[in-house]
Amino acid sequence: MAVQPIRIFGDPVLRTPAQPVEDFDKELRNLVKDLHQTMLEAPGAGLAAPQIGVGLRVFVWHVDGESGHLVNPGLDLSDELQEGEEGCLSLPGLAFDTSRALKVVATGFNEYGDPVRIEGTEYLARALQHENDHLDGVLFIDRLDREQRKLALKAIREAQWSGEPAPAVKVSPHPTFGRAL
Ligand code: NI
Repeated sequence: MAVQPIRIFGDPVLRTPAQPVEDFDKELRNLVKDLHQTMLEAPGAGLAAPQIGVGLRVFVWHVDGESGHLVNPGLDLSDELQEGEEGCLSLPGLAFDTSRALKVVATGFNEYGDPVRIEGTEYLARALQHENDHLDGVLFIDRLDREQRKLALKAIREAQWSGEPAPAVKVSPHPTFGRAL
């Protein structure tokens, strides 16, 4: 159990759909611990397994002082939308206005294989959608409107970490104030 290096944009693992968890074993519980520790150390508000190089459908979050994790999640989204800034620990220092569903009902399993159901609104809903996207190889910059996406691609080109294979050093401090996902 340890803090793991966070994979940065450009790493193919971030674009690879993750596989469902089949064994709810000690290895899975160690993965959940690593995700929590790495997220809190970053600090961030959420982290998905592919972001530490593990291609399994698992993510964690820490929003409004509460932590949680979900294995093999499925999301049900409200039609009502929210607007707001979003960032990602795999795109250090960047934050852009991203439209998301206002409410989410997430179902899945805990680390012991018990079924769980999480209801989230506002930032928790945003975090659940962002992390679930990571499991499909989708990044928040894919969700931006045309104008924001243009700005994001420019910021990526200009970022210190851009074009480096797997930089070990994260950009800090960044403007997401620990709210990156
Ligand atoms: Ni992210």
